[in-house]
Amino acid sequence: MKEIITIRENSAIGFIPGDTYPLWQEKALRALDLLETGKGKGSDFLGWLRLPSQTAPTVYEQIKDICLDWKDIELVVVIGIGGSYLGARAVIEALSHSFSALMPSSTPYIVFAGQNIGEDYLAELEDLMAVKSSACVVISKSGTTTEPAIAFRLVKQHLLSRYGKEETRRRIVAITDKSHGALRKMVNSEEYRSFIIPSDVGGRFSVFTPVGLLPIALAGIDIQELMEGARDMEKITALKTGNNPAVRYAALRNALYSTGKKIELLVNYHPKLHYVTEWWKQLFGESEGKEHKGIFPAGVDFTTDLHSMGQYIQDGERHLFETVISIAAPNRSLAIPADEGDNDGLNFLAGKRIDHCNKMAELGTRLAHTDGGVPNLRIDMSSLNAYNLGALLYFFQKACGISGYILGVNPFDQEGVEAYKKNMFALLDKSGFEVQGALLRKRL
Ligand code: PA5
Repeated sequence: MKEIITIRENSAIGFIPGDTYPLWQEKALRALDLLETGKGKGSDFLGWLRLPSQTAPTVYEQIKDICLDWKDIELVVVIGIGGSYLGARAVIEALSHSFSALMPSSTPYIVFAGQNIGEDYLAELEDLMAVKSSACVVISKSGTTTEPAIAFRLVKQHLLSRYGKEETRRRIVAITDKSHGALRKMVNSEEYRSFIIPSDVGGRFSVFTPVGLLPIALAGIDIQELMEGARDMEKITALKTGNNPAVRYAALRNALYSTGKKIELLVNYHPKLHYVTEWWKQLFGESEGKEHKGIFPAGVDFTTDLHSMGQYIQDGERHLFETVISIAAPNRSLAIPADEGDNDGLNFLAGKRIDHCNKMAELGTRLAHTDGGVPNLRIDMSSLNAYNLGALLYFFQKACGISGYILGVNPFDQEGVEAYKKNMFALLDKSGFEVQGALLRKRL
């Protein structure tokens, strides 16, 4: 099978003591086996493993119907938080024109809400909806998460007052659990069109369900291609060999963690990948940060952040390693022009591709950072397209499951997220939280 991504470990392996790496590979292979046989922790949440190969054709048809029905829509507000928005945002930003908001387009512009409770943000969203023909995709697996619920209430009221009940119904699609939660109740009572999030797929593993696929398709991106890449990676990462890229990545990052490298920086050299990093941070952070263990996932956009975080990475505490997503060729071609006066002294670069400069920055940074004691893993990919991105996201999900099992945690729950929610409800005087509210206020 062709290689879609390649793990390059030569700038990292020297940081792993002596002959210990094969042991981590063995652990990773055992973890893969647990995952594939469903014998590990949280195995009732493994539905994501087979989404690329087993998604029913009716799902794609329903998504297509909505895209066709919303041909007149200029703006789609996608409401969701965490796993209910990051996958869609990652793919849409990676594969759209960097200035799509201001470019002519035959597809609606996608904006996101419900991922914060900023009053200015939501008021400004209403300003935007007032001047655009708008529709809404509201996503919440539990159907009860506060941030998206607040945003949805506002967006729904806006649509109702502008378009009336019937037309609002056409302009709302909900994606939620089959039977539980307030959102499903609303779907039933208001008769919104809806999709089901499979009960065995957790939020951060849901990009290949309608949670990701519907917003991505609405943005005009080919979801068949995305799923084809994911499907090929599903096959590649099921192989029980040391060459399985998910096994290798999981083994390497855990080997580095065992040497005190507690922070992993996901590095990109293309601004379009910023939200892939945000998605990856949630995937690994929420899956592995448990029982006072886990690599802290952080992200940097280079070369931008070389001028902010570069100093620390080069010279600060030595608890970091980098994983670089390296794209061999950009989709566009642009060379640096010659300038007669050469007053900026840049003529030595005249005729060179912009990407050549980017690549030299990447190479120079790798050498400098490894010299400074930062191990450097690389994930090589030929170019940024839907097929490769589908493969990359599936690869990370698989590596995350393997890595969580190596660490000995349940990668598929997120009980730690509940602590802030309970406090927030108590401080907002939600019924049932009165005692906790009183206790918390005493501490303030
Ligand atoms: O990965 C997860 O499970 C979480 O990040 C959820 O996606 C997030 O908390 C949103 O939950 P819900 O979709 O229930 O609103």
